[in-house]
Amino acid sequence: MKGIVLAGGAGTRLAPLTTAVSKQLMPVYNKPMIYYPLSTLMSAGIRDILIITTPDSQALFRRLLLDGSQVGCAFSYAVQEAPRGLADAFRVGRAFIGDDSVALILGDNIFFGYGLGRLLRSIREPDGGVIFAYRVRNPEDYGVVVFDAAGKAVDIIEKPRPAPSPYAVPGLYFYDNTVVDIAASLKPSARGELEITDVNRTYLQHGKLHVKVLGAGVAWLDTGSFDTLMKAAHFVEVLEARQGILVGSIEEVAYRMGYISAEELEKAALRYGKSAYGQMLLNLIQDPPLPL
Ligand code: G1P
Repeated sequence: MKGIVLAGGAGTRLAPLTTAVSKQLMPVYNKPMIYYPLSTLMSAGIRDILIITTPDSQALFRRLLLDGSQVGCAFSYAVQEAPRGLADAFRVGRAFIGDDSVALILGDNIFFGYGLGRLLRSIREPDGGVIFAYRVRNPEDYGVVVFDAAGKAVDIIEKPRPAPSPYAVPGLYFYDNTVVDIAASLKPSARGELEITDVNRTYLQHGKLHVKVLGAGVAWLDTGSFDTLMKAAHFVEVLEARQGILVGSIEEVAYRMGYISAEELEKAALRYGKSAYGQMLLNLIQDPPLPL
């Protein structure tokens, strides 16, 4: 299975933070935002990953993330010329996806929770699409899933007002290879974007959409405003300080998943010089981590 991180978009809601620097490079406590979604894909067992950026910021992402070999992965890069919507990722990434299934994660979505990696690793070869539903207080800001009395997903609506259910669709999607053709046939929505919700509705109409509810033990955090960006940073800081673990670290996931050896982890850590983040990576070598 291939993976795509979509890190395009103008990020205008975070200006002036994002006037000169891509949103997905913003700090979330001690690491750039994109580390979190990248580590989520890596914990799902996905190592061949395409990073889609704006034309301006590709060089910065390359400088940060290199070719992925330092974390036992293969990172490649592609440009989205204009913010044409999430489903455009499957057009931009068509050659990269080839005949494989693919997971898409948004570069500004943060997931953390016990058992999440195991859950994601169980979705190796999806028959159709697998998406998630997560209870939030502001579902109208997202794609929303409607369930029937038996708990079966019956509808998905993009940013409905009012929202017919509290279940939002997080920015993490697993699809079989038909997604490439579905995306190719989409028409832009009223807001001028190729909507991922239209991809999901197509799978739903064919009876091929599986919706898994993420429970209260999983955090799905938003980073779309100054407040939520700050809250996400606090969340990471609290967990890391309390437990001495790392949240959203690509090097830690690589080590725990067995993608890199202790020597390679040390090399990756030393790249960060005297930073406390690098030091926490070095500590992992002495203190064997919990199973993922
Ligand atoms: C997009 C999707 C929406 C999804 C959300 C997750 O919203 O359109 O369905 O729930 O990402 O973050 P947008 O970022 O375009 O507002």
